Amino acid sequence: MEKIYNVALVGCGTIAPNHLRALLAIPYVKIVALCDKNREKAEKRKAEFSLEANIYDDFLTMLNSEALDSVHIATPHYLHASMTVAALERNINVFLEKPACISTEELIVMMEAEKKSSAKLCVCFQNRFNPATVIAKKIAEEDGGIKSAFGSVFWYRNEKYYTESGWRGKYATEGGGVMINQAIHTIDLLCYYLGTPKSVTATIANHHLKDIIEVEDSCEGLIRFDNGKTANFYATTSFDGRDATLLYLVTEKKRRIQIQYSAVYVDGEKVDDPSLVADYVGKECYGNGHTYLIAKYYEALKDSKEMPVTLDSAQYALRILLAAYKSNDKETEI
Ligand SMILES: NC(=O)c1ccc[n+]([C@@H]2O[C@H](COP(=O)([O-])OP(=O)(O)OC[C@H]3O[C@@H](n4cnc5c(N)ncnc54)[C@H](O)[C@@H]3O)[C@@H](O)[C@H]2O)c1
Repeated sequence: MEKIYNVALVGCGTIAPNHLRALLAIPYVKIVALCDKNREKAEKRKAEFSLEANIYDDFLTMLNSEALDSVHIATPHYLHASMTVAALERNINVFLEKPACISTEELIVMMEAEKKSSAKLCVCFQNRFNPATVIAKKIAEEDGGIKSAFGSVFWYRNEKYYTESGWRGKYATEGGGVMINQAIHTIDLLCYYLGTPKSVTATIANHHLKDIIEVEDSCEGLIRFDNGKTANFYATTSFDGRDATLLYLVTEKKRRIQIQYSAVYVDGEKVDDPSLVADYVGKECYGNGHTYLIAKYYEALKDSKEMPVTLDSAQYALRILLAAYKSNDKETEI
């Protein structure tokens, strides 16, 4: 008989529906528990998705009470490391929202916990699996790879976004601003196309919410990779226009690939591919990859394969942005 995976989710906020919808699509997964420190939020998700799950307001109580095979962590950033370690210590597999954690010290502790555990850890960089990302990768490979890239994030986050959340906008709980929260996907994709980063030179600023947040709302910089290639980036949440992320890739044969959400352009011509149909759950900027990546994570558990996004590969985007925070326009090792 096929094994059924008993699964729990902690953090029943904004992104939780993307996880629950993806889980409900996998026949050998059973959502047995939901946890949120605000019990009502967990109850609300339980009703919304017609689940039979037990409800908890304390994570460790849930881990110790349920026979879990896997837990999804979608809590504020400062809780990611401790919750992941607690699950791995109990040999419970973890599907972890980005960022993996908020410091290099935490990263090291998580890597140690992963080594000691028989359980696996997958980090939610779902945009690596967006059809646009995959198609651009294929085009890049035809041309012998990417020579150079520019990643940009032009978003807007207002005062309310921070004041109502309780954890955003503070180094202690969010770990940073636009870079660790919004631009981390774009930085991860720069590594996905260009390789292992070596150093970064960057500047950070808080332009539009000076008395509201202590973290950056803008950051620009240059990443150097160990293969000698470079990438530039600019990210802001102070652009009061339509949300946009843009990846501009120049191939070794000088073709110019531009990715904007689900669309890909090569030398200005839109690529017409049936897979490039947006089918978003939640906001367009999340991409449509949660469902795909979560399915791949359970497939990897079932077939004892490598995780689709390992902590080892996810560490680089985090290391880049943590180095960018320290850089103050000086070359900083990652
Ligand atoms: N992959 C993506 O594209 C993507 C998109 C959005 C959010 N995220 C990530 O998902 C995570 C959650 O983001 P969100 O926007 O849903 O935040 P949110 O604030 O809407 O939800 C967080 C939830 O965690 C709960 N929580 C806080 N402390 C807790 C504790 N100690 N125990 C149990 N529950 C607790 C809160 O009550 C809240 O319901 C963050 O890491 C964020 O960066 C990822």
